[in-house]
Parts: sequence; structure tokens; C-alpha cells
Amino acid sequence: MRPYHGIRDRILGIVDTTPSALFPTDEPLPPKHLIGRADDVAEIANSLKLGSNVVLSAPRRTGKTTVAGAALAELAQDPGVYVVAIDLFSMDGTDQLADALIGATMSVRPALRKAIRTATQAGRTIYESIGLTFGARLVGTGDLDGIEIGVLPTLRNDPRKHLDYALNLPEKIAATDGKRLVLFIDEFQAVQRIGENASRGGATVLKQQMRAAFQRSRHVSFLFAGSLEHMMGDLFGNKSEPVFSFGCFHSLRPITEDEWRAGITARLKLVTVTANDAALDMLIEAGEGHPRATMLLCQQAYEMALLAGAPQIDAGIAALAYDRALRVEKPRHEQIVLGIQHIGTRAVSRLALRAVSIIANGGRPYTLAKHPAEVARTLAALRDAGIIDQPDGTWRVADPLFAEYLRRLRR
Ligand SMILES: Nc1ncnc2c1ncn2[C@@H]1O[C@H](COP(=O)(O)OP(=O)(O)OP(=O)(O)O)[C@@H](O)[C@H]1O
Ligand SMILES: [Mg+2]
Repeated sequence: MRPYHGIRDRILGIVDTTPSALFPTDEPLPPKHLIGRADDVAEIANSLKLGSNVVLSAPRRTGKTTVAGAALAELAQDPGVYVVAIDLFSMDGTDQLADALIGATMSVRPALRKAIRTATQAGRTIYESIGLTFGARLVGTGDLDGIEIGVLPTLRNDPRKHLDYALNLPEKIAATDGKRLVLFIDEFQAVQRIGENASRGGATVLKQQMRAAFQRSRHVSFLFAGSLEHMMGDLFGNKSEPVFSFGCFHSLRPITEDEWRAGITARLKLVTVTANDAALDMLIEAGEGHPRATMLLCQQAYEMALLAGAPQIDAGIAALAYDRALRVEKPRHEQIVLGIQHIGTRAVSRLALRAVSIIANGGRPYTLAKHPAEVARTLAALRDAGIIDQPDGTWRVADPLFAEYLRRLRR
């Protein structure tokens, strides 16, 4: 996927004016462009700076990585802080995890970052490069202080040692340099899968290894994010889990209507487009506070304005944008439906789509089956998948555009 700010754009100061760049929907927002949540960013950054560990758990596409990225960007301004980030989402094994952590951690030292980049470009591993080629060159420069490089060439022969080396490296570098190191681990719930891929029962071993290393890491603050709330809740809130109570949960605040209004207006101003009050009200109301849905509606409204050559988004354009957003999302909505049809046990999967549909239409899901326990299990599975939530005690479909898709299916 194309990064929002290409290097060329950054150098030339060009703002990418395409609708999907101005209102991105499938990637985290660059730190200075996030709308609202300034308090979340400040609180998270402060906690991490003071040495606390933070757990950010929220449904998919609601802004976790965006807020985490903004907090890290703020921390990176402090010369006393190192910032390191890894994402477990697409990792399969502990070797991959160790490689990523070692690479990202070493990169806090500019000379090592350069060495790693050169190695990667030449198709070599960082172990070959740092251990052999660059090792000699960097000795005496201070760039290798606190890092045991003698073991690097053989490190990958022993998976447990490899991982242990990686997990302890942030502390070693931070302590040597007299800095605080903030380590952001995104999609943390994937430790479960990564550990199990290594061996049966490997998830517990991995988490124990992590806890042991992290607990000793006095110069490191950890920020964990994850979108499967039940798993994150279990990992950090269940006494039998190795990482139990290792971080404090932070709940993201809703983005207020005023923040949306100011944020959308500011984004449009970059491309000299305006939106009148009626249009802003419609877009914000239809987005129901859901970050991605609201951004998609704005993206479509801006695109409609461009197509029409109109300098202002009015209520008519906002209404058209709503229908267009639904059309654009149709394949995604169909995929979600397929997922719902296979969401759990046979009994749960059989009820799930009807349950979401009833909720989207304002009905009461408990009328769905004879056995309330079965309905409760179905609702729990849908909630765990982030399809429905209960913000004020009543079930609702989390994504307002998906809710509308379901309502239109019924018509
Ligand atoms: N503060 C914000 N202001 C405006 N839009 C936002 C904000 N945060 C998130 N979004 C919207 O939500 C989308 C997803 O954001 P982000 O990737 O940060 O969420 P996430 O919770 O990390 O998602 P995932 O579960 O996929 O990891 C963004 O592309 C954007 O459309
Ligand atoms: Mg994310």
C-alpha cells in the first residue's frame, strides 16, 4: 500500500490531494493529521514517559495505531527517549518476531540503522552484516556498546536464545545510552498465534519469556495495542496469564462532533474546498462517531465535489456521498457477512446473521431463539469480532455503513 506521504512529497512539501490521501480509510493517519483525541495522545505519551506500560484495546479500525503513532511521534521529540515499534499482525513465528525486534531496536542508533538498511538492500541478514562486515568498522565508535555482537552470527541456530536476545535488547541499549526506550507492540494478541506456531503450548512459553524479559527492562516502557478486545482483556486481565496486569488499559475517547467539524474543515481547507453546516451535520451524523466510516463519507463527499467541479460540499453532495460510500463498501460488507456466517459453532453461526440484522433494524435479538443462552453466545461472538457493541447498554452494529447495508438487504 502506498504510504500517505511519499518521500518525494515530504521533501517537496506537496500535499497529496487525492480523496483517499486526504481522508484515508485503510491506514493509520499521520500524527499531525489526526482528528480529536489530543488528550488520549498526551495521556499515553505521559504515562510511557513516566515508565508506565499502557494497553490500548479497541475494535478494528477505530484509531488505535493512529493514536499510538501520534504518542510515539510526541515522545520521539524528547532527546532522552528512544522509540521502537513493531507490528505482530503478519508474523508467523518467533524467529520473525525476534528479527523484527532486533532490527527495530538496533535502528535507534543511526550508524546501526544505516548498516541494517545497507544489509537489507544487499539481501543480507542484519546478523551477517553487523556481525561480520560492520562489526569491525563500528568497534570503538560506541555504536555497539551494550550489544553482544559475538553471538550474532550463530544466534539464529537456537530459536529460544534468538528470542531471548531480542526481548532483552531494548533494555540493554536503553540502559547503556541512559535513555528511556518506548516499545510499541501493535496487534499484540497475535502472540497467541505466533507462539502456537512454534510448538504446541508455545504461546504460554512465549508469553512467559516475554514477561521475564520485560519485567527486568527497567528503562523500557511498553505500549501494547490490539483489536481483539476479548483476547487483550484475557491476556492482561486474567490472573493465570503470564502478562497479567503488566499494563494499564487505556480507553480511547470518542471523537466529539465539534472535533469532527473542525478536523474535516481543516482537511478540506488544504485543498481549498469548503463544506457548509448542513453537509457537515449530515456527514458527522451518518458516521455515528465511527472514525473509519466518517472518514469514508468525507472521502466520498470530497470526490463527488471534485467530479462536479464544486468548490463547496453541500447537503446534496453529502447525500450522494452516503450512497456512494455504501456502493464502494459493498464487497467489504459481503465479506463481513461471510465471516458472520462462520463466526462460531454451528448453532452460533446459524443465528449470527439474523441477530445482526435484527439489531441493525432496531429489534431485540433475544426474541431470536428459544434458548437465551444460545442468543447470548451468539451476541458474545459478534461482540468479540467487533461487529456489534453496546456503548450505552443497547446493542448496535458498530459500523453504521454496515448497519445500513443490512437494513437495505431487508427492503
Ligand atoms: N483520530 C482520527 N481521526 C480521523 N480518522 C481516524 C482517526 N483515527 C482513525 N481514523 C480512521 O480510522 C482508520 C483506521 O485507523 P487506525 O489504523 O489507526 O485504526 P486501528 O484501530 O489501528 O485499526 P486496525 O484494527 O485495522 O489496526 C483510519 O484510516 C481513518 O480513516
Ligand atoms: Mg492498527
